[in-house]
Amino acid sequence: MSNYWSQYWQQGHLTSFGEDIKGNYSGPLKQVWQALFAPLNESHRVLDIATGNGALVSLLYDDNIQNSLPAVDAIDLAKLQIESSLLTRSETTKFHDHVNAEELPFTDDCFDLIVSQFGIEYANWNKTLVHVARCLKPGGKAQFVVHNSESTIVKPNSAILKMNIELAKKGGPIDTLKSLCQTLQKQGKGAPLAEKHRNKLNKIMNKLVQQDEYAFKATNFHLLARSCMQSISQIEQVSSLFSAFESERKGSVERLSDLINAAVDDKQKRKITQLIAVNGLKLELFDVVSNEQNLPLAWQIQLVKPLK
Ligand SMILES: C[S@@+](CC[C@H](N)C(=O)[O-])C[C@H]1O[C@@H](n2cnc3c(N)ncnc32)[C@H](O)[C@@H]1O
Repeated sequence: MSNYWSQYWQQGHLTSFGEDIKGNYSGPLKQVWQALFAPLNESHRVLDIATGNGALVSLLYDDNIQNSLPAVDAIDLAKLQIESSLLTRSETTKFHDHVNAEELPFTDDCFDLIVSQFGIEYANWNKTLVHVARCLKPGGKAQFVVHNSESTIVKPNSAILKMNIELAKKGGPIDTLKSLCQTLQKQGKGAPLAEKHRNKLNKIMNKLVQQDEYAFKATNFHLLARSCMQSISQIEQVSSLFSAFESERKGSVERLSDLINAAVDDKQKRKITQLIAVNGLKLELFDVVSNEQNLPLAWQIQLVKPLK
């Protein structure tokens, strides 16, 4: 994993959905946690795997009707930027950055509950489930909400990933916009070559909009084109617009490729189910979490470590 998650968390987001989810998870993605969190109290110890900036820990605090908080360890491979209100809420909650889920640094049989929201699937299931089984107390539970390859989250992101790759093809939109800018800067407005590039760019952009308008707009390429035209006489400004766009685009390709690879399909569901059994854990539930329109949002996995 590159350090794009560290950069992302440093921007202060609470969830991994950036501006798309203001505040914390709500609706079905919150409801799946409520029953599990409500009975927890100070006698319990919880582990949150791949916590990010602590969205799930924050839900746990909200849902804890006992108002006597369990001890929480929240780990992530990335460098985190936890809000101070979350950090100071409980003395027994500890956030650990740069910790790999595949090598959990906790003693055997120490957690009553292990949870993860859109996190554990980014790590290697094989290695991570060994540690989940080891660190859970006998009788302890685990719940993971993980990306589903057919979900309303993964499918549009898969289209955005394809669009971001399409933009950078040789002779494609980015190259054509660059040629247009360079020609306008050298030959001025109305030059026949500039008009040729402009026509080509318009054609390509129209085609991509027709192909998938949502994915095209999500790349922000149309905003880059507009900003370049607005500052066409400032050569350095245009060049820095391209650099910023390219670094954003590359980051997005990395992040979305990881998301697509992490998302669980039916074949992986069977593999994970086997790994759960191999590690001596009992599968209680492996089912789809749906939205209000009955479309898939995620998988919900519940496990128990049998009593010895
Ligand atoms: C989609 S984010 C989810 C964060 C958080 N649970 C949430 O719902 O907002 C995925 C997180 O998994 C973390 N991650 C990826 N691989 C990991 C690993 N092997 N061990 C621990 N964390 C990992 C990333 O750093 C990132 O913070």
